Amino acid sequence: MTVRDNELFAILDREVERQNTTLQLIASENFTSREVLAATGSVLTNKYSEGYPGKRYYGGNEVIDAAEDLARERVKALFGAEHANVQPHAGAQANMAVYLGLLQPGDTVLGLRLDQGGHLTHGSPVNASGILYRFVSYGVTASDERIDFDQVRDLARAERPKMIVAGATAYPRIIDPAPFREIADEVGALFMFDAAHVAGLIAGGVHPNPVPYADVVTFTTHKTLRGPRGGCILSRAEHAEKIDKAVFPGMQGGPLDHVIAAKAVAFFEAAQPSFSDYARQVVANASALASALAGRGHRLVSGGTDNHLMLVDLRSFDAELSGKKARLALDRAGISLNENTVPDDPRPPYIASGLRIGTPAVTTAGMGESEMEQIAELIDRVLRHRDDATIGAVRDEVAALCSKFQPYPGLSY
Ligand SMILES: Cc1ncc(COP(=O)(O)O)c(C=O)c1O
Repeated sequence: MTVRDNELFAILDREVERQNTTLQLIASENFTSREVLAATGSVLTNKYSEGYPGKRYYGGNEVIDAAEDLARERVKALFGAEHANVQPHAGAQANMAVYLGLLQPGDTVLGLRLDQGGHLTHGSPVNASGILYRFVSYGVTASDERIDFDQVRDLARAERPKMIVAGATAYPRIIDPAPFREIADEVGALFMFDAAHVAGLIAGGVHPNPVPYADVVTFTTHKTLRGPRGGCILSRAEHAEKIDKAVFPGMQGGPLDHVIAAKAVAFFEAAQPSFSDYARQVVANASALASALAGRGHRLVSGGTDNHLMLVDLRSFDAELSGKKARLALDRAGISLNENTVPDDPRPPYIASGLRIGTPAVTTAGMGESEMEQIAELIDRVLRHRDDATIGAVRDEVAALCSKFQPYPGLSY
């Protein structure tokens, strides 16, 4: 039909090669199954289907309805939710739709401080959440760097928020939904749990499920849940209508039907017993990597991890080494991760004093605790030396390690 775009497909092949040959330690990334890839690349991308199953503004949606219904039913069963909206294009859109549906502009909301692990959509002044709503931030304690529930309670009593948001983008500990619910009930607030990062750990049964506690649970489907890029909203039945209206027509136009189909595949995969084994291994690997890094003298925020990620505070290791400098050196060595602020970071977020390291992708690739030891040694070597010879040697060792754990062997476009 058309001339093949060799230029673009060569770029895709380069990305397959990068994912197959370098270490992916970005905590919010994963490797989807080929079935998820297939659904994402399917003919459903051709369809327009504004509305919801049974109530569309376009014809020819019988098949699309079946896919969206399957996704909704599967995700409700997976998390035990009363209502699901699988249309948000991403996590940010899911969060904004909840705010649009359940808040008025100017309403007060409590959320976790951004430099202590909160997400942009939890009230950053440069994000629509912080521009449209009055976010007040709680933080972590100075002593153990875990969520300061005394502060959450005090702020809730003083500010009488309309909503309390829990959840984080860079917090290495379990977030217990129960005390948030208790505080929300005391002040008559709604409670939203943003499970973007830990949705897969919840589905796999290794972290507490916030659905019985929260009015609304949002999450992304592409992190620990290992699905396509996208968002999802679970809610109590009483909020269903407001949330659906906020997603469409409030925030979005036509849904990404191919992505919704891929979400259905991911929810199917996450319901299999093997996914619980995966979730357990993600946490075991993070714990092994954290211990190995601590054993080499690196300070971990909160002293360790009980989820899929850890934060290394570089300040005590090398006062001159910013998170950004460290990330750039590791990138050259074939180790992909991101710089991140640490609690009370003196540096701005785009430079930062820490590194965020996650195990979802390497676990999917089949690595276990012994590989985590090896990865800790490789990271430590780069952070200590950072010269071309060390970086070149580590890059070769990374390639040798990855050759035994390729996520997409033989994949080519
Ligand atoms: C806690 C949290 N919420 C929301 C999001 C937004 O997700 P997305 O990047 O899909 O918009 C993220 C992404 O990192 C996140 O960590």
